[in-house]
Amino acid sequence: MFEMAVIGGSGLYSPDMLEKTGEAEIATPYGEVSYFHGELNTKKIIFMPRHGKKHSVPPHKINYHANIWALKKLGVKHIIASTAVGSLNKEMRVGDLVIPDQLLDFTKGRSQTFFDGKDGKVVHVDVSSPYCLHLSGILFDCAKSTQLAAHLGGVYVCTEGPRFETAAEIKMYRQLGGDIVGMTSVPESILAREAEICYASFSLVTNLAAGVSPHKLTHKEVYDCMRETNDKLIPFLQKALAKIVQEPLDCECQHALAEFGGFKI
Ligand code: HPA
Repeated sequence: MFEMAVIGGSGLYSPDMLEKTGEAEIATPYGEVSYFHGELNTKKIIFMPRHGKKHSVPPHKINYHANIWALKKLGVKHIIASTAVGSLNKEMRVGDLVIPDQLLDFTKGRSQTFFDGKDGKVVHVDVSSPYCLHLSGILFDCAKSTQLAAHLGGVYVCTEGPRFETAAEIKMYRQLGGDIVGMTSVPESILAREAEICYASFSLVTNLAAGVSPHKLTHKEVYDCMRETNDKLIPFLQKALAKIVQEPLDCECQHALAEFGGFKI
């Protein structure tokens, strides 16, 4: 069984943070999922690139249900998820890491639940605090001890994509309290909570958001920033994984559905 998983976002496609890596597939009720497995300090860890190994799956087409279901089935209790984001907040600069503590959901029509009522079960999960604060604290401590400038807390605005935002949308998101903008934290974080898995995210600011940036946005800018930061991200991730595995915690995220009899797989 695997205690932990890293979900890789834009620019993070291979399990470079792990040793003795291999690839495998698992069937889920939502479709088949491919993943990498490997080890760090003898602990077995999964690496799952959410856009596929070659960034062939756009954010609105990711099979979030299959990915999270697969991780639950494989025994994962802790997920750390990477995302590339644009910044709306002048304090959060290109190359900084933000560990978000809140989100604003502007996705459209993405299913956000494993419980769609087909078997008569309806679940209303609590997401007052959508990211695991315990894991987020570890991510922040580890980021501080690398060369990365890190911010603990921030409001992640999740858009539908795959287009970037308009300048007016970004202005509105800022007025609503958004700090960073990306396309993948919903429904991934929500499904992880339903599956009673601790989930925290680290968002690399790859660009200033539309209208904040003095130029047009390109995917190349996002990708180049991720690539340039990769050599700092890998030691950061290794440190965080080692610490999480060392201090596994029976966190309240792992009992999120207690009121509904727990998450059964
Ligand atoms: N907007 C949405 N998603 C993103 C951005 C952005 O500016 N940068 C990286 N992912």
